[in-house]
Amino acid sequence: RSLRIGLIPGDGIGREVIPAGRKILEALPPSLGLNFSFVDLDAGFECFKRTGAALPQKTIDTLKQECDGALFGAVSSPTTKVAGYSSPIVAMRKSLSLYANVRPCKTVLSPAFPSPTKSPIDLVIVRENTEDLYVKEEKTYADPSDPTGKHQIAEAIKRISSKASWRIADIAGQIALRRARMRQAGGKGEARQGMVTITHKSNVLSQSDGLFRATAREALSQPRFNSLKIEEQIVDSMVYKLFLQPEYYDVIVAPNLYGDLLSDGSAALVGSLGLVPSANVGEGIIIGEPCHGSAPDIEGKGIANPIATIRSVGVMLEFMDLPEAAEVIYKAVDANLAEGRLVTPDLGGTATTEQVTDDVIKRL
Ligand code: NAI
Ligand code: MG
Repeated sequence: RSLRIGLIPGDGIGREVIPAGRKILEALPPSLGLNFSFVDLDAGFECFKRTGAALPQKTIDTLKQECDGALFGAVSSPTTKVAGYSSPIVAMRKSLSLYANVRPCKTVLSPAFPSPTKSPIDLVIVRENTEDLYVKEEKTYADPSDPTGKHQIAEAIKRISSKASWRIADIAGQIALRRARMRQAGGKGEARQGMVTITHKSNVLSQSDGLFRATAREALSQPRFNSLKIEEQIVDSMVYKLFLQPEYYDVIVAPNLYGDLLSDGSAALVGSLGLVPSANVGEGIIIGEPCHGSAPDIEGKGIANPIATIRSVGVMLEFMDLPEAAEVIYKAVDANLAEGRLVTPDLGGTATTEQVTDDVIKRL
């Protein structure tokens, strides 16, 4: 099978870790029968300063017309507002209908790194990517109850649709089924049943979160999800339990804002941002993306941890229906970490990006 992959390094360490992702794809065992070709694409703040566009139309067109998958590094956002600049990630998700952000969080099982949690965790957050408060419809106006005219009121729209809620719950169900299958295939003792936890706050927001909850329930009651356990939990108690008993969870599905918060929180439960991958998933192309940013503090030193990106290659392949290839990558990463000898400074080691990448390649 021939696959074309777009490479969008972006800014900062994005340019150091995306080449690592490419090397991994090129080094996959021939027995998998996969053939990759690559196309370099531009986006980000540097690109904006150079060309006036943070996300050139050519990047979008090439992704749409030529690519089966893509890897996105990171982009820098200026701390003060720059006229004409807005995040290319949000724009990219919109123009390519990438409606789900999928973020697996898994504890490193290695004597070399103490886990931040008591028991190992292995969960996936499935975050709705297109609506909720992130529709960015805000306004500010004078507070009518204030005669002095000094006080203001700001409002933001939280929009939830049954269409988006259905498709995000449906994809969460599919992920839970696949994970249960992979656990069974891994065959260590009795494999745990697949589970999806629906996150909401419908006790307060009975209409918006109420619609999300009811629609997700309905989507997950389709016969093909019969083997899954479906649960729901109110988001604040979810945070509590996620911190105290994270090993409990399998797949968590959430509206945009709660998903954003829960996924950064669960990244903390596995140790370093440099380890956590994600994928943007929708109707067509799949885009793998490490969860970290452009890390200006370590940029140019060649010490960025490539593992978040390498794992993102795995997640991308999983969603391109290539679970065997993904598994090969996950196992090689786990073996590198289990030995714990060649790791980057964020994990207490002294290895460079390139040395870690080459060590993972040796283990593919
Ligand atoms: P960051 O994720 O870039 O860095 C946070 C800390 O983690 C830093 O100390 C950094 O050195 C470390 N770190 C991150 N990735 C690492 C890796 N692979 N290996 C080793 N250490 C790593 O977040 P920060 O500092 O808040 O943001 C920096 C820039 O990145 C900002 O301009 C921000 O807007 C942007 N950003 C972009 C994101 C994206 O493109 N998806 C996500 C988060 C931030
Ligand atoms: Mg976030």
